[in-house]
Amino acid sequence: VDARLQRRVQRYGWDKAAEHYETSWRSQLWPAQSRMMAASAPLAGEHVLDVACGTGLVSRLAAAAVGPSGSVTGTDISAAMVARASGSVAANNIAFRRMDAEALDLRDCSFDLALCALGYMYMPDPEAAMREACRVLRPGGRAAATVWGRRERCGWASIFPIVDARVQSEVCPLFFRLGNGDALANAFTRAGFVGVRCERFDTRLEFADADAACDAAFLGGPVALAWDRFTPDQCAEARAEYLASIEPFRRGRTYSVPGEFVVVTASKPAS
Ligand SMILES: C[S@@+](CC[C@H](N)C(=O)[O-])C[C@H]1O[C@@H](n2cnc3c(N)ncnc32)[C@H](O)[C@@H]1O
Repeated sequence: VDARLQRRVQRYGWDKAAEHYETSWRSQLWPAQSRMMAASAPLAGEHVLDVACGTGLVSRLAAAAVGPSGSVTGTDISAAMVARASGSVAANNIAFRRMDAEALDLRDCSFDLALCALGYMYMPDPEAAMREACRVLRPGGRAAATVWGRRERCGWASIFPIVDARVQSEVCPLFFRLGNGDALANAFTRAGFVGVRCERFDTRLEFADADAACDAAFLGGPVALAWDRFTPDQCAEARAEYLASIEPFRRGRTYSVPGEFVVVTASKPAS
């Protein structure tokens, strides 16, 4: 898949998803985001970069942790995400900018901590983005990231083949690659980090009903651009197929869909 096309699909897809994102995913992603924050432990006064910040869920947690003497810079490829993130804060220790994670327009050695929650899976070259995170960290600075785990542990994974069967290009060709084995940890090591530690854990994504499950899958996430271009018949078919795929996780009206996350922490070499 052409990297520029993938970036465009991501950028404009997340533009479409932005208004639905927090309703759909806020509570579902909390287990991964909170573990990543605990593992990275931002300190008062630190300067934090939040890569692929989306609506700023993690950036706001980081801003509270670093306090007024610290700062948070949130970056994202989607203008709509950056606009929402900017609109969500009044604090003056936090700023958001539209930027591709693989080419950060930020100074070398200018951050203490680089975070990235649920972002690297969407990038054509996640290792390039990790190298960029490493570049902008000061020597000895820390990084932390979380990604979805293995495809077979994520009960919602059928969303990709269901959408890809109806659009010309694959939406997220390598989505689960980083969730396998030590792939995320190894990518951090190859990108120049040391002291890489990795943990993997299971969670459940709770949806109140079929509409909430489908809205999260189709409207609030990475396939939103493709969904926007479906005919009404394609929408109905894709929705029915997706609900059939998560039927094993239905409990009456609600759905409790399994998911797995991987969290990695690492440091830039001290010298
Ligand atoms: C699932 S959201 C995660 C948002 C946020 N980190 C959170 O935890 O809520 C994924 C984000 O990655 C962003 N993204 C995808 N590709 C990117 C790239 N190449 N550079 C920067 N951001 C990117 C999307 O625009 C989207 O906002």
